[in-house]
Amino acid sequence: MAQYEFITDEGKQSRSGAIKLYNAAAFEGMRKVGRISAEILDALVPVIAPGITTEEIDDIVRRLTLEAGAIPATLNYRGFTHSCCTSINHVICHGIPGPKVLKEGDIVNVDVTSILDGWHGDCNRTYLVGDVAIKARRLVEVTYECLMLGIEQAKPGNHMGDIGHAIQVHAEKHRYGVVRDFCGHGIGRLFHDAPEVLHFGRPGTGPEIKPGMFFTIEPMINIGRPEVKVLDDGWTAVARDRSLSAQFEHTIGITDTGCEIFTKSLKGLDRPF
Ligand code: MF3
Ligand code: CO
Ligand code: CO
Repeated sequence: MAQYEFITDEGKQSRSGAIKLYNAAAFEGMRKVGRISAEILDALVPVIAPGITTEEIDDIVRRLTLEAGAIPATLNYRGFTHSCCTSINHVICHGIPGPKVLKEGDIVNVDVTSILDGWHGDCNRTYLVGDVAIKARRLVEVTYECLMLGIEQAKPGNHMGDIGHAIQVHAEKHRYGVVRDFCGHGIGRLFHDAPEVLHFGRPGTGPEIKPGMFFTIEPMINIGRPEVKVLDDGWTAVARDRSLSAQFEHTIGITDTGCEIFTKSLKGLDRPF
C-alpha cells in the first residue's frame, strides 16, 4: 500500500519512502524551475548540429543555468561532474559530456536538471543532428508519443500502472523495446524521490495518482532489445545489442483534473519535428 504525506513546510525534506503531496506554493516553485530547464533545452535547438562536441553542449547548459540564477543538479551529483547528460545513438541515458563530435545522422539526448530555490526541474529531449535516417526519426517520434501518452494517463483516480501501460503498448506496437532498468521518479526538493515511475505495467496497478504529486515521466525506448549495459565509466548506459535508443522527459504536477507540465516549451519546441 502506498503511503502519502502532505508537504506544508518549506524546509529540507527527507527520502521517507512516502509519496509527497505538495501545496500551491510548491507548484509555483516547480513552475519557475521547470521553465528554466525547458528554456535551456529550447536554446540548444539551433546549436545542436554536426561538428559540436558534447562538452561544448555541457558548457552552454552550465552557463545558461547559472545565468538563470539556478544550479545544475547533476554537477557533483553522486560523482557526476557535468551539468547535463548527453546520450548519443545507442546510449540510452547518463552519457557523460566529452570531446566526442556530433556527426550528421546522429540522434542525441540532452537531459537537463536545474535547481532554483531548492526545487528541481528535470527534462530531456532527443535532438536530430542534421539529416537523420527515417528509421531513427521514427524512433524519436514514437518515443515522444510514448511520453505524451503516459502524461495523458497522469490524472487523479488513475494508477501509476496506467502510465506505464500506455507507454508500453505504444512502444511495443512498433516492435520497440521499453527499457526496464531506469524509471521516472518523484521530484521536488529532492532530485529523485518516491514513487518509481515505471514505463511499463498493467492498468489499475501501482499507487493511486493524487492531486499534489510531482514526478517525472521519461521513457527510454530502443529499436531493438530493451536490455541495458553500463560501461566501465560507471555511468554510460547503452543498449546491450547496440540498437538506437531515444528518450523524452517532462516533470509534471498532478492537479484536481489532470496534470500540469512544468517543463513544457513555451516555444513549442518539445518535439524535434
Ligand atoms: N536527469 C536524470 C534523470 O532524469 C538523472 C541524471 S543523474 C546523472 O533522472 F548523475 F547522471 F546526471
Ligand atoms: Co528524471
Ligand atoms: Co532527467
